[in-house]
Amino acid sequence: MAEKKDSKGFDEKAFLSFIQEAGLIWGPEPEIYGGLSGFYTYGPLGKLLKNKVENSVRRVFNFHGFRELEGPTVMPDRVWKASGHLGTFSDRIISCSKCKAVFRADKLVEENFDVSADGFNDDKLLKFIHEKNIKCPSCSGKLTDSISRQSLMMKTNVMGTDASLRPETATVTYLPFLRMYQYFRKKLPFGVFQIGKAYRNEISPRQHVLRGREFTQAEGQLFIDPSEKNNWEKFDLVKDEKLPLWDYVLQESEKSPSLTSIESSLKKKLISSKVYAWCLWLAYTQFRNFGIPQDRIRIRQHLPAERAFYAADAWDIEIKTNNFGWVEVCGVHDRTDYDLKQHSKESGINLEAVREDGTRFVPHILEIAFGTDRPTYTLIDLFYEKKSEEEGKTTFKIPYVMAPIDVSVFPLMKKDELTKVAEDVVEMLGKYFIVDYDASGSIGKRYLRSSTAGTPFAITIDFDSIKGKDVTVRDRDTGKQDRVKIKELVEYLRNKLVKYQLDL
Ligand code: GLY
Repeated sequence: MAEKKDSKGFDEKAFLSFIQEAGLIWGPEPEIYGGLSGFYTYGPLGKLLKNKVENSVRRVFNFHGFRELEGPTVMPDRVWKASGHLGTFSDRIISCSKCKAVFRADKLVEENFDVSADGFNDDKLLKFIHEKNIKCPSCSGKLTDSISRQSLMMKTNVMGTDASLRPETATVTYLPFLRMYQYFRKKLPFGVFQIGKAYRNEISPRQHVLRGREFTQAEGQLFIDPSEKNNWEKFDLVKDEKLPLWDYVLQESEKSPSLTSIESSLKKKLISSKVYAWCLWLAYTQFRNFGIPQDRIRIRQHLPAERAFYAADAWDIEIKTNNFGWVEVCGVHDRTDYDLKQHSKESGINLEAVREDGTRFVPHILEIAFGTDRPTYTLIDLFYEKKSEEEGKTTFKIPYVMAPIDVSVFPLMKKDELTKVAEDVVEMLGKYFIVDYDASGSIGKRYLRSSTAGTPFAITIDFDSIKGKDVTVRDRDTGKQDRVKIKELVEYLRNKLVKYQLDL
């Protein structure tokens, strides 16, 4: 049975005011004009956090041999016709018979019930909505009896040429295939990725940055000879690792995901190839590296009806948030030779590779598709703690390596001899870390501000620091204080932060 969602115990209003007041995320923008859903500003703290997320993505992809590209965000519609987006990239919509507001039908179901409605066909979706008595979220009116489709493409025009903003980075990554092939010395496999903006004309997005109309994607693409998909050496390095797989048999029998070794999932034919299994592991590793706990992650197999038009094998990574329940954060797709063939047909350019024996083939592409807004939001959602009045104020217990600001520096008082030492410490640490200087208010208040921003360490400069050339370093979570020589601070903080580093 689909469970009705229960967000008891989660104070959404307090959470949203924390997001705004801490300088994490503002909007929808433009706030002073009333706001347009789906567009947000990352404030100073939010942008630092998003940068940490993106740098983690870069580090993991680069470590595994993927190289970064940056392509244009606008492309002529010929590209989107070939990719299939112009014809088929749409959402299913339903409207209110009373106030005429329009909603995305599958999301209405998912917002109210703990089910994934992606795989429901139109009849099942409509039946579910009416059987469960889901009403218009705006006026509680009855929803209509029909589902229609609306394109997600954002249109523009470039000097008379019809064009669209890219709805994914992937297509734009595939277009210079021949350039990449040459760069990688005409050897497959090779991997590339893009981190950049994409745009979708979403229907009434109401889940904060989880469903923006402008958002940042981070998509890895692996180009491979199809005959090599089960000859993937890196598979052996990860085959014994376990992933929280939720295949569709488990989903249909309403059982929980099961921690399954990668090798056995391949033997059971849950996963189609060694290279796909490795990509799934790499995607999971990205999310574990953001510091998302394992018990908050599941990897859900797409039902056959829900696979994207280009995908032969598809699983999603989902994270259990406090505010919105399970949220899809990443899709791993075997796009086969679909894209290169389509672009070859439309452009008239041969997009093939050549094997050592001279045979020609169209490479297959495996895609790890995610964004950086959802992980950023998820980190806030999972590690924000609202304390009761008796216990104290809100804290933000984000994993130390992902904290937007690494360290705060406080002179005990606003006295020249103390602020001089504090400023020297800020200058020294600023070469290696993101440092926040705070000289106003009581030390207690400053500790509180620092921990509300999630900053792992706070350094206090007191009168003993002047003579002894040492300072007090306070740990955010333990409250433990160490006395550390100023000249050893960089090393001390580095060691501490490395201790919290997650595995690649
Ligand atoms: N590139 C796949 C997606 O945007 O979902």
